[in-house]
Amino acid sequence: MQFDQLSPHTLRDPHGYSGKWHFYPEDVLPMWVADMDFPISPAITQAIVERLQERVGYPSMTGDKALLQLIVHQQSQRGLTGLSLENLLLTTSVVPAIYASVLALSSPGDEVITQVPVYHPFLLALNEHHRMARHNPLLRTESGWEIDFEQLESLVTPRTRLLLLCNPQNPTGRVFRRDELEQLAEFALRHRLWVMSDELWADLIYEGEHIPIASLSPEIAQRTVTLTGPCKTYNTAGLGGGVAISHNKQILAAMAQVLKGIGGHPNVLSMAAWRAALEHAQDWLQEVRAYLKGNRDFITGFMAQRLPQVGYLPPQGTYLAWFDFSRAPFAQEVHKVMLKRAKVGLNDGKIFGPQYQGWLRLNFATSRSLVQEALERMARVVQTAD
Ligand SMILES: Cc1ncc(COP(=O)(O)O)c(C=O)c1O
Repeated sequence: MQFDQLSPHTLRDPHGYSGKWHFYPEDVLPMWVADMDFPISPAITQAIVERLQERVGYPSMTGDKALLQLIVHQQSQRGLTGLSLENLLLTTSVVPAIYASVLALSSPGDEVITQVPVYHPFLLALNEHHRMARHNPLLRTESGWEIDFEQLESLVTPRTRLLLLCNPQNPTGRVFRRDELEQLAEFALRHRLWVMSDELWADLIYEGEHIPIASLSPEIAQRTVTLTGPCKTYNTAGLGGGVAISHNKQILAAMAQVLKGIGGHPNVLSMAAWRAALEHAQDWLQEVRAYLKGNRDFITGFMAQRLPQVGYLPPQGTYLAWFDFSRAPFAQEVHKVMLKRAKVGLNDGKIFGPQYQGWLRLNFATSRSLVQEALERMARVVQTAD
């Protein structure tokens, strides 16, 4: 299978195009930035080439209608129904939409709640814009990561405005169940909070089902903006593209105001790629998902056999493994130790929340042999340190 054929030699392209493969010296295996090492679907390549043969002048500021219609259809298949094209706001990628949600739905000094550990731009957007981040750490239980609803209630004050949700969750890989999302929605409505739900990973799920929180009731739909984009599913991060979706057009208008003059305009190649992905890359996606699930299961077996002392819960979605090295003798500098001694480049846990010093995130969207090589290198370092 093509996903099995990748070698560091070819992945470290001579042009320096891949940020991940060129950041560290050549003897380091880069398992950090969340993009896949796999080639994209040929249908996307073809669509980009064909699009370049057409006019590439300014597009419509609201985006290509055919793409918007496909996104509406995709959302309705996920249960988010009743949308029309005016309920979508295209953005250059998802991170600007995260920042725009924070700016549009809260003011400096307001309190904003999020489960941690979490995708670091959530925390950066709050800190950089003087919002008070209130962390609701996920609980590690026998059955997996769970939301601490008791603590969640205790975090609310008259200054609380917004709840930031990441589902499927980066970095734990949790896919939240309907009952959890219903409880979160009830909580947000009772406290009159806005909800930003980043659902970028929704297609990469191995167990469970993706449920958009905004699909749960018309009331929660009115208080929610859902964010998504093509980059995780179809491996098109370098092309950009994102969308903010809300039944409440005032939320989108407030976000558009924040982005005015700095948000740019939709990119014609990005839109062509996204459209081709939704129309013609579903077989590719199925293959990728099956391969990633195999990698996830391989890691689960490896950790149980070779590194049982390292905390790890198999992710239900995403291509991220989240490791707890906090009991290792080198926990305080685990990121550096893995980089210098194991020669594996990982994400340092503390960027996902200051309490996660001693944790690491590994991206397993690469050939299984490279995943194995990275884990073997890490295991050797752990074993020599014990
Ligand atoms: C939850 C989440 N949101 C957003 C992004 C980034 O999206 P984009 O590249 O479209 O800005 C990532 C990338 O890893 C992510 O994990």
